Amino acid sequence: TAPGAVVVGIDGPSGTGKSSTSKAVAAKLGLRYLDTGAQYRAITWWMLSNGIDVNDAEAVADAAGKPEIVSGTDPSAPTISVDGLDAAAPIRTQEVTSAVSAVSAVPEVRTRLTELQRAIAAEAPHGIVVEGRDIGTTVLPDADLKIFLTASAEARAARRSGELGGKAAADLAATRAALVKRDAADSGRKTSPLAKAGDAVEVDTTELTLEQVIECVVTLVEEKRTA
Ligand code: DC
Repeated sequence: TAPGAVVVGIDGPSGTGKSSTSKAVAAKLGLRYLDTGAQYRAITWWMLSNGIDVNDAEAVADAAGKPEIVSGTDPSAPTISVDGLDAAAPIRTQEVTSAVSAVSAVPEVRTRLTELQRAIAAEAPHGIVVEGRDIGTTVLPDADLKIFLTASAEARAARRSGELGGKAAADLAATRAALVKRDAADSGRKTSPLAKAGDAVEVDTTELTLEQVIECVVTLVEEKRTA
């Protein structure tokens, strides 16, 4: 990364507003943006499309190096492709969401994507906002600023279900259950689990609007820049 560039890692469970916050902060500050969750989803989509049993860790490990994953880091139009195919829509299906925790628990998958993520961050001219689960702890331990976003399970389920367009109470309960299950899997895995880095700033977004969270993170980055 060039001198003066700023590297920001934003971690936290699903539904805390990580993506919306990270994109907006990057756009406001002229930084690149990387969604590492999209990369884990992309590799999962490739596994499913190629008939690999995602619960067979050995098969997943053997195939981990095969798909070519390319992330576009413009925060106003981020892209993700797998072997040259646009993966933006297929990585958001329920099938991929249900399978992604198993694939992302495989160490070979994590090593591969961690290397890719570090290379992308190193190339960002003015710096980058990288969002995920293990950015502060593992991918970019020397980041200039680490943020850990949290929110109550109720608030997270309500946001996620709003994104999916589901309004019914039954959808909300199912969304909450799926989200809690995925977070437990992501936090409980052996290799770089979802965790707050010791030097991360924790922001509880339960009672905050998206604009307030963005403002808070922008202020923290600017404080770092002038420090
Ligand atoms: O942020 P997301 O919901 O799109 O992430 C999808 C999954 O990818 C998430 O359940 C855990 C995994 N993931 C990970 O293990 N490490 C990251 N740095 C980012 C995501």
